[in-house]
Amino acid sequence: MKNGLEDVIAAETQLSDVDGERGRLVIRGVSLDDLVPGETYEGVAASLLDGLMERPVTATTLRSLLGAARVDLYSHITRLDEGLLALPPVDAMRAMIARLGDGQDLDTALHLMAAPAVFLPAILRLQAGQRPVTPDESLSQSADILRMLTDRMPSAEQTAALDAYLVTISDHGLNASTFASRVVASTQAGLTSSVLAAIGALKGPLHGGAPGPVLDMLDAIGTEANAHAWLTDALDRGERLMGFGHRIYRVRDPRADALKNALSPLVRSGQVDRERMALAASVERAALAILKERKPDRPLDVNVEFYTALLLEALGFERQAFTGVFAIGRTVGWIAHAREQALNGRLIRPRSIYTGPLPKVA
Ligand code: ACO
Repeated sequence: MKNGLEDVIAAETQLSDVDGERGRLVIRGVSLDDLVPGETYEGVAASLLDGLMERPVTATTLRSLLGAARVDLYSHITRLDEGLLALPPVDAMRAMIARLGDGQDLDTALHLMAAPAVFLPAILRLQAGQRPVTPDESLSQSADILRMLTDRMPSAEQTAALDAYLVTISDHGLNASTFASRVVASTQAGLTSSVLAAIGALKGPLHGGAPGPVLDMLDAIGTEANAHAWLTDALDRGERLMGFGHRIYRVRDPRADALKNALSPLVRSGQVDRERMALAASVERAALAILKERKPDRPLDVNVEFYTALLLEALGFERQAFTGVFAIGRTVGWIAHAREQALNGRLIRPRSIYTGPLPKVA
């Protein structure tokens, strides 16, 4: 059911702009095409936080501050109990973040940005019966995440690919999770509360929970020859094709190509399964053709989640972890929006339209 409120302006922001007609994403005045490849997680994070915290941070200072925060947070792993490990990774991670103190300051922000980067690899390793890996504060956040996940130093191509991913998804206008973060911040609650609300909104399959199901779809399709028939059957059953469609974009999501390009060096150096990439390309072509035919009035194109799935799989993340990796990248965006709201905004309190019965007049 459409609620007619799609075009309501709920916030003013200087952080990012999503142009759905032209397929353009601008983060702090810079087009995504000029950020990726090349920008690091620390670089985009410093830019997003610029002017919003009690003291300025550069990419260089952020790298060492985040390294120290990762080391500090690692002590929390020893308090990770069995009950948490039985949960899906993103839920276990959320529960651990809930134990952090609330606040509006840079120290709280740094711990929130470092927390998913430390907790997620540790949870994944413990769930697989392996020992967690201690953070190395001298590394960049991307290199250290991959090292903590695999217990090996990542290649330069792998680190660059994760940086490309984290930068690409760092902020994206007033999406559902960012809105949740701003709503909480508008009450002047702290950053931890905002980030927890945002993770709750992110994990649903219509938002950040889609890339795992993208791989399920590729596995079910199996071969390039099967793509057309499988996709047609799925749509006949009334299912949606994961990794396609977007509320704002009426053209191709620019993040999809940023991630597809970020995969290229891994493909060239043999660090990605080429057959998997060929299957994905066929599925994408077939899906776009079928969606165009079935929904001629609604432009449906590939979204960020399709190539997210392939990139994170290539980096060694299991599919149940994908939403958690999304949270690693998006946390700085949630924090920046929460600070912007807390500094400049009012309480967000929309009105509902009551459509229920009225009391009988005596
Ligand atoms: N597959 C098939 N049909 C689709 C798809 C899809 N992926 N997306 C939309 N449609 C169809 C709908 O069935 C609907 O058709 P109808 O008018 O005949 O009923 C029409 O397109 C419009 O759909 P809406 O629900 O109005 O689109 P909305 O803007 O609400 O949805 C959304 C956006 C949730 C992303 C949707 O496209 C979808 O479910 N995609 C699949 C899940 C996915 O990839 N999510 C990740 C999004 S990116 C992110 O959040 C990071």
